[in-house]
Amino acid sequence: SQYQKGVKHLSDNGIEKLPNKYILPVSERPNLLLIKELAYACKHNNLKLPVIDFAELQGPNRSQALNSLANACEDYGFFQLVNHGIHSEVMRRMMEVSERFFELPFEEREKYMSSNMYAPVRYGTSFNQTKDGVFSWRDFLKLMCHPLSDMLPHWPSSPLDFRKLAITYANENKYLFLKLMEAIEESLGLTTTKTTKNKKTDDGDGDGNGDNILEELKDGSQLMVVNCYPPCPEPHLTLGIPPHSDYGFLTLLLQDEVQGLQIQFQQEWLTIEPIPNSFVVNVGDHLEIFSNGRYKSVLHRAIVNPTKSRISVASLHSVPLKTALRPSPKLITKANPRRYMDTDFATFLKYVSSCEPKTKNFLDSRK
Ligand code: SIN
Ligand code: FE2
Repeated sequence: SQYQKGVKHLSDNGIEKLPNKYILPVSERPNLLLIKELAYACKHNNLKLPVIDFAELQGPNRSQALNSLANACEDYGFFQLVNHGIHSEVMRRMMEVSERFFELPFEEREKYMSSNMYAPVRYGTSFNQTKDGVFSWRDFLKLMCHPLSDMLPHWPSSPLDFRKLAITYANENKYLFLKLMEAIEESLGLTTTKTTKNKKTDDGDGDGNGDNILEELKDGSQLMVVNCYPPCPEPHLTLGIPPHSDYGFLTLLLQDEVQGLQIQFQQEWLTIEPIPNSFVVNVGDHLEIFSNGRYKSVLHRAIVNPTKSRISVASLHSVPLKTALRPSPKLITKANPRRYMDTDFATFLKYVSSCEPKTKNFLDSRK
């Protein structure tokens, strides 16, 4: 149908009324008035996402920073990451080339359309355009990033500098993710920093933690989702992306200065205020499983804007497809018994594609 062409197409054609295809039932619409109040409350009651300073994590205050990290992952499932070491130019260029991609003629973007979720590149619209009853106000470009040399030839060849800028960004993103996971492991009490590690007596199980998740993650999957939310004539009737949780261990989200992301916190939808040059990082389903439920994979969604276009780039990182997903053995205790049964990423992806977006997909793998 006409809606398969996406929302950039509709917005560029200057539609003034939201087509029925995008109108959500009343109970699922964002309450834009409430959002204003919450944004106000955010500023004045300090209802803000925790901010984690990556430089502090690498310095003498590491243990304090690890505490903040653990609290953020337990209480919110989300934090904002500053001083992360990725150059602001690398981030700016990634955003800018993404914008130029969505400005290409539709015929050029259409070449990358695919319904195969394992395709190295996938252009599309809505959340899942082959299944959604009501469509979401989003167009997207999904890029598989691992192994990069195999994926690269399939990535868009236009704009001309797209591949070059996206590779640089993807590589730096992966490096940062691995550094963050080192800290996450430590915050879960699975490892200790090098300076204290040598002094610690070995508990006899080789690497000291009974699993080797960092090694798995080094060779793990990486998906980059470039989201485009064009101006929407009636934003109070629809969403840019419906409530969902992310699979994977962590998602690192790069966004422009336009508000849009909302997370569920104490039964409310909280609007995240973008911090320039930061990442919004969230715990994914696989980390919730790995942490045996200590860290939470939280529902989130995106609202859209009547006048402004918004771009975001979400990088989802996890283990290789064939790797088992299970709680870390050290986090299963008498007091905290195993909460999820073993699964693997490929099986998990089947759940993801068979579930409604608003269910937490991995509940199916709960013991
Ligand atoms: C997402 O949840 O994948 C995207 C959220 C956003 O665009 O802020
Ligand atoms: Fe997400």
